[in-house]
Amino acid sequence: MEPNREEKFCKESRATKILRVFPSDLNDHNTMFGGKLMAYIDDVASISAERHARAECVTASTDSVDFLLPIREGHSVCLTSYVTSTGRSSMEVFVKVVAEHLRTGERMIAATAFLTFVALGPDGRPVPVPKVIPESPEEKKLHETAPARAEARKRHREQSKLLAEHLRPDRLWEMGN
Ligand SMILES: CC(C)(COP(=O)(O)OP(=O)(O)OC[C@H]1O[C@@H](n2cnc3c(N)ncnc32)[C@H](O)[C@@H]1OP(=O)(O)O)[C@@H](O)C(=O)NCCC(=O)NCCS
Repeated sequence: MEPNREEKFCKESRATKILRVFPSDLNDHNTMFGGKLMAYIDDVASISAERHARAECVTASTDSVDFLLPIREGHSVCLTSYVTSTGRSSMEVFVKVVAEHLRTGERMIAATAFLTFVALGPDGRPVPVPKVIPESPEEKKLHETAPARAEARKRHREQSKLLAEHLRPDRLWEMGN
């Protein structure tokens, strides 16, 4: 087992997933189905979170998945993720989705996403995670801009909690007016 460390490099949590786009991955616009890509994003990001924390991790939130360009049949899709910044028990994970046209070799950033994972101890309560040391220009940029995203996330979480107070778990057809 790895010894617990107070700081870890971004590259230590890096995870990669490469897939070929098949006809069964497409939606009715003949581009890759967004829900399928989101599942892959959560999957690869969860590996980065657990590599960083070396503890059980759960997805606390996905702040954004930006679909920048359509992905089509004949492309390969490469998802890369790593932890960009941490709080006490939470980790921001960045995912970059690069599509490659397999015949021409043209590559493009097709989507990006930020997710937050929380590390849990054996009792299911949040536990501390190591800090992050960014090295490359991309890692440094994402690390520097993380506090602003964390602040926006905190505001969003407060608003979601307030909104949840007005929601009921009833099925729609059981709700009165
Ligand atoms: C995520 C979860 C463990 C947080 O538990 P909690 O009792 O609210 O914990 P706390 O309030 O002590 O927060 C713990 C950390 O999570 C962060 N956090 C909690 N909810 C968050 C959210 N929606 N978005 C971002 N961060 C969040 C807090 O900011 C805190 O970060 P820090 O330790 O770095 O300061 C809990 O809400 C949970 O289990 N959610 C369900 C997770 C799940 O089922 N995911 C899908 C399948 S993996």
